[in-house]
Amino acid sequence: MAVPDRVLSNDDLSAIVDTSDEWIVSRTGIRERRIASERESTATLGLKAAQRALDVADVLPVEIDLIICATSTSENIFPSTASVIQGGLGATQAGAFDLSAACSGFVYALNMATQSIRAGSIRTAVVIGAETMSRVVNWQDRGTCILFGDGAGAVVLKASSEPGGILSAILRSDGTGSDLLGLPTFGSIDAGGADLLENGHRLGKMHMNGGEVFKFAIRVISESLPQAAQAAGITMNDVKLIVPHQANARILQSAARALKLDETRFMTNLDRYGNTSAASIPMALCDAIAQGRVQDGDYLAFVGFGGGLSWASMVMRWGTPAAALGSAGRFNWQRRRLSYATASGRTWFGRELRRLRRAMARMLPGSRLSRLQREIDENLP
Ligand code: COA
Repeated sequence: MAVPDRVLSNDDLSAIVDTSDEWIVSRTGIRERRIASERESTATLGLKAAQRALDVADVLPVEIDLIICATSTSENIFPSTASVIQGGLGATQAGAFDLSAACSGFVYALNMATQSIRAGSIRTAVVIGAETMSRVVNWQDRGTCILFGDGAGAVVLKASSEPGGILSAILRSDGTGSDLLGLPTFGSIDAGGADLLENGHRLGKMHMNGGEVFKFAIRVISESLPQAAQAAGITMNDVKLIVPHQANARILQSAARALKLDETRFMTNLDRYGNTSAASIPMALCDAIAQGRVQDGDYLAFVGFGGGLSWASMVMRWGTPAAALGSAGRFNWQRRRLSYATASGRTWFGRELRRLRRAMARMLPGSRLSRLQREIDENLP
């Protein structure tokens, strides 16, 4: 996982909107969140998380076949954040795309990558959840801005003949609730040049009906987790740890009660990071591993829920790859750094070469290069 260094505490927030640490902690369980600096973006956080995941799995960028980035805060509609990350890794054999399913996105993406591996079309995938929610929350709306934070998490998935891995997935959507939680974007909405839409929502700013989303979340967590367990051929009692989307501690406590499970079976780290949307599940998984709560052979369940409305539950059996040991691991670590350095050099070199070609064509108007450049320019739409 990768998070920005800057911490925004509840007390810091109370200087921005009319709120208090006591209110936020008692209603949500959140104590602080991370906020991206000017130099950070969804892609830089996602790239850092992906690089760390490749180190843990000891996989080389050139071995990756597919990169999926689940995000709602891509810097661009296109190029995708996944493509930017692919370029940064130097994953020259990989396809890359973003997946939009709000806070359910990581589980959706994990299932898409799993199915591609299972179908035999690819062998190795990197699945990332990355967000800079701080760029899209309305910092004047105390009902939403207190909830969200920035960060990224990533996993590497590999084909294996060992039993285990991802065992089941339940993916669902209810578009009739699309007005309850959303982020209207520039582009396809014609707002006549205005930022404020007729329905009162702002372009580029998130809106939410907190009470309705709260009830929806408890319902879908408690319905879909047992469905995923059943599809995996186990019961919820077999699941060692549930790694849920980190939205609100009260949502998780209510869902645990509805499922008649001890709350401690739900991994939480939202007190430190808030709701990081599609990044929250891989970030919580990383923390669970760091805390020694995940062992080989454990059944884990993931559950995501959010805008769409969308939700997704999944059950997997954890199996860590044989750790990279000794000189081979160290050699691969160096090869990965070389790939990242070459990738950033290639991006810079390609851009500069295109600029130089144009400048040369201007300086030598009668040359073949100039004619070629003119032809390209004239044929541009
Ligand atoms: N600080 C202080 N008071 C606040 C506040 C804040 N940050 N935000 C809202 N309030 C006030 C409201 O204005 C309201 O005041 P009023 O009674 O005078 O009108 C009061 O607190 C209660 O508001 P309400 O919205 O009913 O609070 P709540 O207990 O439902 O908690 C949320 C609000 C947003 C924390 C809660 O609804 C929630 O977490 N919903 C789910 C959101 C979520 O997880 N979304 C992402 C899913 S992916």
